[in-house]
Amino acid sequence: MKSASETSHAKAILIGEHAVVYGEPAIALPVPTIRMRVAIDPRDDGEQIIHSAMYDGTLAAAANTRFSGIATLIRQLLVRFNAPTAGFTLNIISDLPPERGMGSSAATAIAVVRTFHAAFSTPIDHAALLRWADISERIIHGNPSGIDAATCSADRPQWFTRGQAPMPLSLPRTGVLVIADSGIQGQTRLAVNDVATSLTVNPAMRDHITALGHLTHQTALAFAQDDIQLLGNVMSTAQMHLRALGVSHPQLETLITAASQNGAIGAKLTGSGLGGCILALAPTPEAADTVSAALTTAGATQTWQFDFSRHQTQ
Ligand code: PMV
Repeated sequence: MKSASETSHAKAILIGEHAVVYGEPAIALPVPTIRMRVAIDPRDDGEQIIHSAMYDGTLAAAANTRFSGIATLIRQLLVRFNAPTAGFTLNIISDLPPERGMGSSAATAIAVVRTFHAAFSTPIDHAALLRWADISERIIHGNPSGIDAATCSADRPQWFTRGQAPMPLSLPRTGVLVIADSGIQGQTRLAVNDVATSLTVNPAMRDHITALGHLTHQTALAFAQDDIQLLGNVMSTAQMHLRALGVSHPQLETLITAASQNGAIGAKLTGSGLGGCILALAPTPEAADTVSAALTTAGATQTWQFDFSRHQTQ
């Protein structure tokens, strides 16, 4: 093993969360300005030490903590590289708020897998990277579609359908997404389980899943036609379906209302919901500043802006 350091970044699901678990398409955006960095240094005393905001201690003691998914991933990587007892210090330095629907667990997994491969001088292709990340995502989330890992490792917006290779998309030329953190912990596993239970108890709920899939197709059309009004309408319609599925939260609704009353042309939760973040679409950078300020006044603990014009690929 040699010293190595690799990165990944946050993601925001623009449309199709939850429906994507059931085979509908979704679109997610990499947010490269919100970064995750992992660094590993070998050590001679055989200790296996992890430093992160979520967990600080030995690999062995991480088994029954919130870090257990990543710990299992690390143990399997060590086996893969024939070095289960190798000593190391692993530092995880993250700008992503954990458990807010921004892909913190997937971004950690991606950066960890990349770092171990670099430390053992082994290249890894993208499909293998996603398979490795799935190990911890399964432990943390239960039934992950794979969209988080795909987007936290991508440099372009992703059209994602479960079980298929993600496809890159080009963004509209104008429009600014404001991402706002409610400060309330999202609960991916609980939200995914709640939706599964609703669908079993009340099969009519399936209509919301189908409708969300349809809205993902509409979003791709809005991208292709540079139609941000359509995109805004689609986002607000998606929020109605997500609310009906039971994954919103009063504070998310407060933020969405504040955004809509202060110039946003669409707003919705992003990720699994029950807390976490919202996305609001503003037509211009000036409008985005007004929306950001209104969201802060309404209780958002942090806001970020994602200006489509700065993320053009052609
Ligand atoms: O809460 P997050 O950011 O992990 O988003 C999960 C997205 C879901 O569609 C709710 C679940 C999944 O695995 O696709």
